[in-house]
Amino acid sequence: MRDLDTIMTAAPVIPVLVIERVEDAVPIAEALVAGGLPVLEVTLRTPAALDVIRAMKTVAGAIVGAGTALNPAQFEAAVEAGSEFVVSPGLTDALGKTAAGSNVPLLPGVSSAGDIMRALDLGFTRLKFFPAVTSGGIAALKSFSSVFGQVRFCPTGGITLETAPDWLALPAVACVGGTWLVPNGGADPAAITDRARQAAALGPSR
Ligand code: 3PG
Repeated sequence: MRDLDTIMTAAPVIPVLVIERVEDAVPIAEALVAGGLPVLEVTLRTPAALDVIRAMKTVAGAIVGAGTALNPAQFEAAVEAGSEFVVSPGLTDALGKTAAGSNVPLLPGVSSAGDIMRALDLGFTRLKFFPAVTSGGIAALKSFSSVFGQVRFCPTGGITLETAPDWLALPAVACVGGTWLVPNGGADPAAITDRARQAAALGPSR
């Protein structure tokens, strides 16, 4: 089982995926891995998501996790489907306790100092900063990291290829996430690989 640091530093960008059709799963995963982005966050926002996770796990080199897990039942369903990590937009006690009892790591979302303090209380130091741009952007993250020196972040929400380098330049940022790599379900594998290459070139992950 990989830990969150390994997952967050495997590439500078985690594609956040919203996929409607199971048949698109393997071509999209292959296109992203070929472009240098092995970590794939499949959001549980579509009825196909769990089958997409199962399908993507057959792609060599892919590290497949679930996103948008809102509660213990979704966390457990994601684990059952073979997710190697789970991401949530926020954190509840119930979700945090469920994750603490699992060997699949949870990357929970935070957007305020109080959120971060609750996450630390529940034992989480690797956090998604979400929604990053509208929650204060880079200035907010710098303030959080000066107070919470032990935390490393994956900011997502409003980040683009153009703005990702500014985030990745912050020492507290391990990686960023975004949907820009596979817009609208992603029908064009060559274009996905092109975007993945550009994202993977944003820098060695730390
Ligand atoms: C997420 O779940 O992290 C967000 O949907 C990503 O937001 P974006 O569409 O602005 O990249």
